Amino acid sequence: MEGTVDIKAIRDQIPITQSITYMNTGWTCPVFTPVAEAIRSQIQFEMEQGAATLAGIARSEEALARLRQALASFFNAGVEELMPTQNTTAGLNMVAGGLAWREGDGLVTCSLEHPSVLGMAHGLRNRFGVNLRIVQLNSLDDTETILAKFDEAIIPGTRLVAISHVQYSCGLRMPVEEIISLAHQRGAQVVLDGAQAAGQMAVDLTTMGVDYYSMPGQKWLLGPGGTGVLYVRQNLIADLQPVAGSYRSVASWEADGTVTFKDQALEKLLAGTASTALQCGLEAGVGILAGLGMAAVEQRHLALSNRMKDRLAAMPGVQLTCPVDPARSSGLVTIAVGGIEPSDFVERLYREDDIAIRAVLHPDGVRLCTAFFNTEDEIDEAADAVKRVLDTMQ
Ligand SMILES: Cc1ncc(COP(=O)(O)O)c(C=O)c1O
Repeated sequence: MEGTVDIKAIRDQIPITQSITYMNTGWTCPVFTPVAEAIRSQIQFEMEQGAATLAGIARSEEALARLRQALASFFNAGVEELMPTQNTTAGLNMVAGGLAWREGDGLVTCSLEHPSVLGMAHGLRNRFGVNLRIVQLNSLDDTETILAKFDEAIIPGTRLVAISHVQYSCGLRMPVEEIISLAHQRGAQVVLDGAQAAGQMAVDLTTMGVDYYSMPGQKWLLGPGGTGVLYVRQNLIADLQPVAGSYRSVASWEADGTVTFKDQALEKLLAGTASTALQCGLEAGVGILAGLGMAAVEQRHLALSNRMKDRLAAMPGVQLTCPVDPARSSGLVTIAVGGIEPSDFVERLYREDDIAIRAVLHPDGVRLCTAFFNTEDEIDEAADAVKRVLDTMQ
């Protein structure tokens, strides 16, 4: 159904919703039955007919081609620009490690980032002497302030800007189009970590103008763990070097042991065999979202997170650490928990109320993900539970 989401029909496909209020899709989504079925059916085929028989090989090739086609139409990108990976971090590092760094080249990121991005950035500094500049952002900074800070940080000599599309720590939806345009004006490229954005909101990779975009399958794209996707803009593929030289990066090799590397195919970045079963699962996950329509899904993520923010903000003693400006908001709601250890808070909500959330750092607190499959009642009950636990722990 395009336009609205039939919540009951969707929840019938998510067994865990019968027992748990699942608000941790930003870590890993709940298992949807069509995803489990797609994985199961591929494994069944492999048990009965073999993965590496002629039929098995053809089936794997078809599955991969189908997945890439589905991703291309979902993200409005060329089939050759998208490659399934194992996770977000793998894709980020294919980009970071695949560029030819010179000592002193500039790299810009920001302080709210997930340690995946920070670890990658510091790794480049340690290995290549990259000049790392970390924009100090506050989770409640408005768009103008964010852009002014990036304007100051992206100086001549900046090679790459590496930031999340949506910040995991506070749900801040970054003004990525403006940052990409700033970077491009100054000769820098941009890699986005789409872990909290892909599948959460409509992402049009071509219109956005981004250079590289890495995302996970297991979060908002509703796929299984062990899946991810990397996008590289067509004209940048040839220059990106494989970090892991492997048979996937080699076009041909000779009897004397010499090789010719692949140039244009993104497959050159991969290190070895992938799981067809998991790729089938990811295709099913993306298929669910495509069937619902991302406009409706995104709208519901935002409506539910607004409801949660309104409820929480009205409760004395509750402090939101996530933006409330609709332009900067996402389905991630974060709050400070005062002197309470965030992991203790998470545990109480899980043990006492069957609500699954997570702790976050910088800003410290807890994160509740409002996903399209959550109900309004779940939002209200979770807000009440948060208040009760805060009151008894303070
Ligand atoms: C913004 C961000 N980047 C990267 C990651 C790591 O993702 P993956 O395990 O897919 O590499 C996460 C996971 O929580 C994240 O939220």
